[in-house]
Amino acid sequence: MLLEITFPFLPTNGEEQNSSNGSRNRAMEAAPSERIGVQLPPQATVGLNGRPSNRTVVFRGLEENTDKIQIHTDYRTHKIEELRHCPYAEICWYFTDSWEQFRVNGKIDILDESNPDLNELQQREKSWYASSLKSRLLYLGPSPGLPCLSEQQDQEFLDHSTGPVGTFSLLVLDPDQVDYLNLKSNQRIKFTSGLSLNGEKCWTSQRINS
Ligand SMILES: Cc1cc2nc3c(=O)[nH]c(=O)nc-3n(C[C@H](O)[C@H](O)[C@H](O)COP(=O)(O)O)c2cc1C
Repeated sequence: MLLEITFPFLPTNGEEQNSSNGSRNRAMEAAPSERIGVQLPPQATVGLNGRPSNRTVVFRGLEENTDKIQIHTDYRTHKIEELRHCPYAEICWYFTDSWEQFRVNGKIDILDESNPDLNELQQREKSWYASSLKSRLLYLGPSPGLPCLSEQQDQEFLDHSTGPVGTFSLLVLDPDQVDYLNLKSNQRIKFTSGLSLNGEKCWTSQRINS
């Protein structure tokens, strides 16, 4: 539900905004990722020519027990080569009901079939099976962004049990900065991530002029 935007970085009501605090994602515990619902934030990368490059993507939830944002994409899309060139990206969310904007900035990891990490391969597989068969079929289509060679599209077939195809990639954005703007209260807060003494990721926040 849209109003449940206790997105990971949203401070709880009445919380002191100007203080630096080492607590990790208190709001996340109060608001499990499944309550965020399906969202369509625009995701911006840096194009190979240095220009901004922006597109709509589906928010696929947070990686388990973290504040990392998951996105599915086709390995053949431009964003992949852009991310290989510069792994930083920004997602911008505006929630019309609550008049809140979140600009989430961080580094993106590309999890594809060549990934040597077994854990990450399993994560990619889990994401694949979590998506609909219709979504999965898109990864068998012709190369996105290339000129259409035929008016008729081939009818692709995929079994429910077939594992992730080579073109399916899981993007994982690890946020390190969040710029939060509330148009109702005219509040703007900058969240910055750092490492606590025990090496855990923690967030500090500072109220800034809107
Ligand atoms: C509503 C909507 C949802 C979309 N969701 C995704 C998505 O989750 N992943 C994705 O790669 N592209 C998605 N797209 C397509 C992208 O916006 C974009 O056209 C495509 O990824 C190619 O972008 P690129 O060439 O910049 O990589 C979506 C488009 C729309 C309109």
